[in-house]
Amino acid sequence: MDLFDHLLLLSVFLVLLWLFLRRRRCPTLPLGPCPLPLLGTLHKLNLFRVHESFIQLAVQYGNVYTLWMGSKPVVVLNGFHAVREALTSEAFLGRPYVSSMYRLIGDKGILMSNGKTWKQQRKFGLVALRSLGLGKKSMEQKIRQEVDYLHEVIARVEGKPFDPSTVIQNAVSNVIVSVVFGQRMDLQEALFLTLMESIHSMMHFQGSAWGRLYDAFTGLMHLLPGPHKRAFTLADNLKRYIGTQIQEHRHSQSLDSEPTDFIDWYLSQLDKTNADPESTFNEDSMLQAVMDLFFAGSETVATTLRWALLYMVTNPGVQERVQEELDDVVGCSAPPHYEDRERLPYTSAVVHETQRYSNIVTGGAMRLSTRETSVQGHHIPKGTMVLPCLSSVLFDPEQWDTPDRFNPGHFLDQEGNFHKREAFLPFSSGPRGCLGEQMARVELFVFFSSLLQRFTFTLPPGVTEPNMDYVLGATLTPHPFQICAVPR
Ligand code: HEM
Repeated sequence: MDLFDHLLLLSVFLVLLWLFLRRRRCPTLPLGPCPLPLLGTLHKLNLFRVHESFIQLAVQYGNVYTLWMGSKPVVVLNGFHAVREALTSEAFLGRPYVSSMYRLIGDKGILMSNGKTWKQQRKFGLVALRSLGLGKKSMEQKIRQEVDYLHEVIARVEGKPFDPSTVIQNAVSNVIVSVVFGQRMDLQEALFLTLMESIHSMMHFQGSAWGRLYDAFTGLMHLLPGPHKRAFTLADNLKRYIGTQIQEHRHSQSLDSEPTDFIDWYLSQLDKTNADPESTFNEDSMLQAVMDLFFAGSETVATTLRWALLYMVTNPGVQERVQEELDDVVGCSAPPHYEDRERLPYTSAVVHETQRYSNIVTGGAMRLSTRETSVQGHHIPKGTMVLPCLSSVLFDPEQWDTPDRFNPGHFLDQEGNFHKREAFLPFSSGPRGCLGEQMARVELFVFFSSLLQRFTFTLPPGVTEPNMDYVLGATLTPHPFQICAVPR
């Protein structure tokens, strides 16, 4: 045997020893593909289509299996039953530490916090949003205002081809702006455009391969140049701007009148809890809660609406049916309202199917087990990262007739009435499900139905097949596309 053979033997021995020790360290985790040193099971994943890899691996390893992100185990849950079991359990209410999210936003707000901080911030977030009109007409008025501006911008294009992404993104983000800051911003204002660019870049970095590299090799990445540096600078600028808004609100705060925006609500909460040493309310957590709302609440709704328009131009028969229903039920003089949805079952079904089929949150958000527990009979130790894969529910062949085809019929019964589906989980569910679900539902319905009431969307002349594939970021977004909006 020469030196090379000895080295080869030694390497094989070390890898086997490593695998043996790893297995001994975590003997109780569900089985999964065999991890490699340093890489873990990264080689088993297509990093550009991760959620598809999760579903494929389930065929081999079952609906509950373990992957390794470097040296850290992640238990992946697939299919409606496993995912629902986890989401409804109190044992999975934690969030793991994710260094990119910690650097971008922090863990004192709602999205990434844990324990008492999360409980207090989430409860407060829900109460504040409800008090600001969530589920009431006043929130819908804020949305309607942005819908009207969006109509104006689109009408100015006069049916010529245009990319609707930015105008939709700006309109949706301005809803959050007015909820948080108390007034909308001018869509053309340089400051507004800079804020939008910051949110977009943060989201894009977080969901990209750079984000995963930063999470895996944080110390090293700190020293290297790359898109992470730009994302962090933009996040810091956004935080600075929110900080100035907080100061301005503080100066104009009136203790006699009812708070009118999220920051006002938070300031009055600070005043109430100042003397409580157990309180988790402070200026840092306020800033981070505001960042959470921007991060989680603008791109998600805007991306879903972009997919909705793409599905309409590629399924003109569906678009026609929605417009017929709108014409019959609402007419063309008054705009559709959220409360009309019960009389608009086909339109509702199309909005739901858009959310299912576009699957924008893909794998879903990572959770952490806060105690020893089990899912579908598989033991999960305390402190384990768990990914309830939402795609695997939205495309579960046991739950949907044609999971891989856009089919509004999934949400209609034989008589054409709207049919609720348990496996419709784009917002996740349970006590740690999406905080903004109600607001997002109103936004999606009102934006979508109003756009279709006013315009017919078509592909530009000469284009027959738009690119329907997705780009993986923090959400699954469509590739840039052009459409025509013909006034009706
Ligand atoms: C189409 C739109 C949206 C989708 C598909 C969506 C989806 C989700 C999902 C899947 C989660 C993870 C929940 C989990 O851990 O299981 C989440 C969390 C969250 N979402 Fe949304 N969301 C949307 C819109 C919004 C809006 C408009 C807001 C804000 C007004 C918002 C605020 C949040 C917050 C704060 C969390 C963190 C909740 C927590 O950790 O307790 N989301 N969302």
